[in-house]
Amino acid sequence: RARVLSGIQPTSDSFHLGNYLGAVRQWVALQEDFEAYYFIPDMHAITVPHDPKTLAERTRRSVAQLLAVGVDPERSTIYVQSHIPEIAELTWVLQCITGFGEASRMTQFKDKSAKQGVDAAGVGLFTYPILMAADILAFQVDRVPVGEDQRQHLELTRDLAQRFNSRFGKTFKIPQAHIVKEFAKIYDLQNPTAKMSKSAETDKGLINLLDEPKKSAKKIRSAVTDTDTEIRFDPENKPGVSNLLTIQSALSGTPIDVLVDKYQGKGYGDLKVDTADVLTEFVTPLRGRVAEYMDDPAELDAILARGAERARSVASSTLRSVYDKVGFLPPR
Ligand code: TYM
Repeated sequence: RARVLSGIQPTSDSFHLGNYLGAVRQWVALQEDFEAYYFIPDMHAITVPHDPKTLAERTRRSVAQLLAVGVDPERSTIYVQSHIPEIAELTWVLQCITGFGEASRMTQFKDKSAKQGVDAAGVGLFTYPILMAADILAFQVDRVPVGEDQRQHLELTRDLAQRFNSRFGKTFKIPQAHIVKEFAKIYDLQNPTAKMSKSAETDKGLINLLDEPKKSAKKIRSAVTDTDTEIRFDPENKPGVSNLLTIQSALSGTPIDVLVDKYQGKGYGDLKVDTADVLTEFVTPLRGRVAEYMDDPAELDAILARGAERARSVASSTLRSVYDKVGFLPPR
């Protein structure tokens, strides 16, 4: 069976709607047809200043959320990145074939380092995309379901795999990004030309799945739209309205054109109220399921232990052939 792999950082207490619609929802669908590897990149989470007291808790919480949205540990291998030391070992080798200029062109590094001041940024933030390449290449995967903001990192991953293969002989499978265009970029409700992100200046435009539904409903009712009154799907000229239509369509399963027809002669208020209702219906049971999983940390840890065992067997076989190809003397 073809393989699929993806990760979500444990840098927040809750997934946001962009994470879910852009990526995690695809993970759930893809586990039906692919051999799936889904993981929590805790090593990526320390590339920016972080609080050690909350990291482990957020890592478990991320796993609880994956289970709650339908990632099935019987079907998918679920693990924590730092439990697979082969990933860090592979990263070193990949770093040695990555150009300094090539790494310097990563736009996410430019954005994130600018926020901290370039001199304050850690070297780990710079090499972040190479760790991500190792995450993927260690597992010889076919598809990587992510949002639009990860596209450049996937391109780098493919370049590194091709370069390694041509220099040292065929070793890595060349992975493909799996980006679902309609949902690949969910926008900030207050600033609907910027992606929804936990690192936005305010969280007024950010919908966290685990927040109190009333709080999220209020954010949706205060979403920025435009001075026009017509409800149509036109991301260029009506980004706020189009974002709400996208969100409501994704959560309800009603196609966007059906929604647009339904809103003829109605106002933005109706669109917002309905979108808030659909969200509330989705998150209410989800919050309950996450709380149940969080009540049983031993069960979560058991799932992760099984996942790590399976994941390590795959990653270690890739690493063995990489070490062999680059000419490392095998230990005896
Ligand atoms: P992260 O943790 O920032 O986000 C998790 C996933 O959510 C997607 N996403 C969005 N999609 C649509 N609209 C948005 N507004 C939005 N915001 C976030 C992201 O594209 C991502 O798919 N580097 C990765 C984690 C990672 C990874 C990997 C992913 C580490 N190793 C290997 C795939 C394969 C990241 O920071 O995602």
